[in-house]
Amino acid sequence: MPIYVLTGANRGLGLEFVRQLSIDSSNTVIGAVRSMSNDLTELKSLNKNNNKHVLECNTGEASSIASFVESCGKILSGKKIDYLLNNSGINAVPEQSSLSIIESDMNEHIKVNVLGPAKITESMYKADLLSTNVRILNMTSGLGSMKASIGIKPRKCTTYSISKAALNMLTIHQGEELREKLPGAIVISMDPGWVKTRMGGEGALIEAHESISGMLKVLHGLTKDDTASFWTYSGEQVPW
Ligand SMILES: NC(=O)c1ccc[n+]([C@@H]2O[C@H](COP(=O)([O-])OP(=O)(O)OC[C@H]3O[C@@H](n4cnc5c(N)ncnc54)[C@H](OP(=O)(O)O)[C@@H]3O)[C@@H](O)[C@H]2O)c1
Repeated sequence: MPIYVLTGANRGLGLEFVRQLSIDSSNTVIGAVRSMSNDLTELKSLNKNNNKHVLECNTGEASSIASFVESCGKILSGKKIDYLLNNSGINAVPEQSSLSIIESDMNEHIKVNVLGPAKITESMYKADLLSTNVRILNMTSGLGSMKASIGIKPRKCTTYSISKAALNMLTIHQGEELREKLPGAIVISMDPGWVKTRMGGEGALIEAHESISGMLKVLHGLTKDDTASFWTYSGEQVPW
């Protein structure tokens, strides 16, 4: 009876996570959306089992994260989260290069792509909602790999790439620190591939169902030594 919690559940990869996870009625799935006034028709229509819950969480706002964690606690009523998927993210200014970064854009990317996953995990831990064997997935990108980024031309998505590289560093710190508190905890960074979503665009290489089924396979196959590691949806380890 695993319990999954994920952010950015209303569309793209998050929606597909909910679609695949809620098929199994023994899973509990708590999907967070930025705002309850988003169009949630598709999310709400998925597998109408009693095992799916939709909550609000703007991952760029501290007060919204706090309310979300509190609401999760009420739904779980003593049970613990087995899988926490920090999925929501933005790539709002792909045209910015290292010579044209705008401060407010960088701040927004750090807030949503780094601070959000940091504070959600921290708050869930402090509320004692994480299982001792929790698996935490921080959704990064190949663009967040230093090694894979060397020599890429043309240069673009600098703001986003920097935020995902920072998220990768967060994975290492969370992975090692949580292990001291929760002996079986595993935290990983995941590159979902280049996927046909609003962010990935129509020219992307793979469909969301392929990315998600691959990521779930990786997630379910993790072993204790895998904490603080970086994976692709297809199961290869990525250099930092
Ligand atoms: N698609 C790809 O090719 C690709 C490649 C590498 C990495 N990724 C990563 O995969 C994750 C999911 O991307 P996607 O392709 O599914 O993108 P998407 O289709 O653009 O969906 C992004 C999701 O994140 C949510 N979100 C954005 N800002 C938020 C905030 N402040 N609070 C709460 N939710 C917020 C969006 O909610 P709203 O509808 O409210 O905006 C939406 O649900 C992201 O972290 C992305 O960086 C994607």
